[in-house]
Amino acid sequence: MNDKIISLDRHIIEEQHRYSGRGDFSAILSQIVFAAKVVAAQVAHAGIVEDILGKTGSKNIQGEEVQKLDVYANRLFINALNYIGKVCVMASEEEKDMILIPPEFPRGDYVVMFDPLDGSTNIDVNVSIGTIFGIYRRVSPPGGDGTLEDCLQPGRKLFGAGYVIYSSSTILVYTTGNGVNGFSLDPSVGEFILSHPNITMPRRGKIYSTNEGNYPYWKKGTREYIDYLKSDRNTKKEPYTSRYIGSLVADFHRNLLKGGIFLYPEDTNDPKKPTGKLRLLYEANPLAFIAEQAGGYASTGYEPILDIKPTSLHQRVPLIIGSKDDVLEYEEFAKKNNE
Ligand code: AHG
Ligand code: MN
Ligand code: MN
Repeated sequence: MNDKIISLDRHIIEEQHRYSGRGDFSAILSQIVFAAKVVAAQVAHAGIVEDILGKTGSKNIQGEEVQKLDVYANRLFINALNYIGKVCVMASEEEKDMILIPPEFPRGDYVVMFDPLDGSTNIDVNVSIGTIFGIYRRVSPPGGDGTLEDCLQPGRKLFGAGYVIYSSSTILVYTTGNGVNGFSLDPSVGEFILSHPNITMPRRGKIYSTNEGNYPYWKKGTREYIDYLKSDRNTKKEPYTSRYIGSLVADFHRNLLKGGIFLYPEDTNDPKKPTGKLRLLYEANPLAFIAEQAGGYASTGYEPILDIKPTSLHQRVPLIIGSKDDVLEYEEFAKKNNE
């Protein structure tokens, strides 16, 4: 039995010394961990103990069918964060507007955005799903309510970011700008234990991950890139392997550990997805921060994701993310898209 067990709580405290934090960030991360443990428990028993599967019958701001677990997870993260006095405003995929702190609770110096349940269409078919979060320091004056300006900060300003993947095991991966570490939930102890220290993404992979059903709607350079990966013309001199789970967190996590490239490019056919499907604030930015911290890269095909100045809470971006050399190579092909 390894007696050098590093719990997530211990890791957070050790990280905190690095940025002489007052413990605010640690308190926020601890609450996210709490909510993630509750979601993990629901996911593990979904469909057995209570009516947590299925659709709510309503649609969210994205115009997408809302699953019961989307709503449950959304309320869980909001209620785990709004009372601790460390947060001044939140944004969620499931909430049309910014989430302000109720008047009875103090406001803090941090901003949290999250996708409470990523991969919703996979909930009912027992496929891996996740949660994605990003944490900023506020830019508005301290004390009062957070503002839209607090929420619309570029990813470069992220203070911390992470995701949870609910699968054969529940793993939490996070960064505060000092590398990327992964923790596995030990259900017998109820704690996340360091299982993937100092994750680094291979410079080049041999896996590509994309929904090829959209191929006819991709621009020229994008189609040519995918054709190139499927040929012996690429640097591997043989076709890449295709892997697509349909939950961003799961596809990203595999590429983070094994190397590879995930693509959700702009789609010229779907008026809802002219700039891609994935959302900048709570999907692309947090994962782009993690990717770059692990030696990878994330791009729209034309610019780094982290450099984008957001203009709205739910804006979508093309997301090309993964092994740095693969993403840079895609950017070469994407230049043809503007011909
Ligand atoms: P969410 O469930 O939070 O809406 O996210 C779903 C996203 C992402 O997880 C995944 O990569 C993508 O949708 C899959 O989209 P397609 O089904 O169009 O391939
Ligand atoms: Mn999502
Ligand atoms: Mn979601």
